Amino acid sequence: MLMSTIQAGIVGLGRLGKRYASDLRWRVRGVSLVAACSLQAEELAWARSELGIAHTYLNYEALLNHQGLDAVFIVSSTSQHVPQLIAALRAGLHVFCEKPLGITLADCLQAEAVAARHPTQLAVVGFVRRFDPAYAYAKQQIAAGLIGRPFMLRSQTVDVDAVAGFQMEFVKSSGGIFHDMNVHDIDLARWFLQSEIQTVFAAGGAFKHPAFGEAGDADNVVATCVMENGHIAQFWASRTAAHGHDTQTEIIGTEGVLCVGRNAAAQRVEILDRYGVRQECVQTFYERFEQAFLLQTQDFIDCLLQGRRPALQLRDATRATQAAIALSASLFEGKGVVQTQPLNELEG
Ligand code: NAI
Repeated sequence: MLMSTIQAGIVGLGRLGKRYASDLRWRVRGVSLVAACSLQAEELAWARSELGIAHTYLNYEALLNHQGLDAVFIVSSTSQHVPQLIAALRAGLHVFCEKPLGITLADCLQAEAVAARHPTQLAVVGFVRRFDPAYAYAKQQIAAGLIGRPFMLRSQTVDVDAVAGFQMEFVKSSGGIFHDMNVHDIDLARWFLQSEIQTVFAAGGAFKHPAFGEAGDADNVVATCVMENGHIAQFWASRTAAHGHDTQTEIIGTEGVLCVGRNAAAQRVEILDRYGVRQECVQTFYERFEQAFLLQTQDFIDCLLQGRRPALQLRDATRATQAAIALSASLFEGKGVVQTQPLNELEG
């Protein structure tokens, strides 16, 4: 039987979780955010005072036991995604989980196996760029043949330089720069080039902030990937941009090129002054993708209300993690050219 209003809970009320919670409370149709969970008491106090959420929990099991819950949004630290997703499925709930699904392939495959045992429940991982109107338009245009056959993609995820205590804490549970940042570009390569990443080579380092290197991570990386169908993808991730958040992607085809997000300007205003002719830049991923996050959340709720399956499957997220692992092995384990691990060998 179709539901009329989804009763949702959320785990994780950090930088992104607060955005989700606000969207679920004020902007998404067909959902009522009734409960929230975080390890931080002050975040729960914020949920009570700013959003009027009566039921807040410091313990995830307690959230799952909240009476009447239909779905849970997982926006917690990456290392928690798979255990929390599995626990939610076992509690009979639908699940939306932020990217990346997991850090290891074994974890991702376990999540898929548990989801397969709960076929009537949705388990979705968010790759927000697919919901961005510019990326979605590029996908439509490619399907209509505008640039012929796409065979190459160059994509970057570039964050403003904001090395700070919170970021050094965050990287410890994030899986590293490929899992955390380039995972978006990996998903775009799979989406636009319609193939799986097979062979990778990555280079990079902690060029500006040695603290990232000391944490086993990097502040700038590049990668070249060959897909199973021979198509090529190149990625750049950076944590050190002076100008702002600068996500952009080029899809190169036999008859043309589509550039998505090439100008990271915050508004359609040019400033002409003693520094020259310039535009201010968006500063955060959320400023750039606010609309896409809203559309993504609405789509998940609509899927539940309409009994529709979402376009993204858990397998898409497993594939993205698989490529991130190969890229990490290439750079951080010094393995050079790396082949992705065939999933069927792991599935036994
Ligand atoms: P954060 O560190 O600011 O917040 C983490 C939250 O998770 C906190 O509220 C913390 O209390 C909670 N948490 C952690 N472990 C928990 C546990 N065992 N039980 C209950 N709560 C727990 O992190 P941030 O930046 O908000 O990122 C959260 C997730 O969102 C990450 O997985 C990240 O990859 C993803 N993300 C996705 C973005 C995108 O563009 N799609 C952008 C930013 C983050």
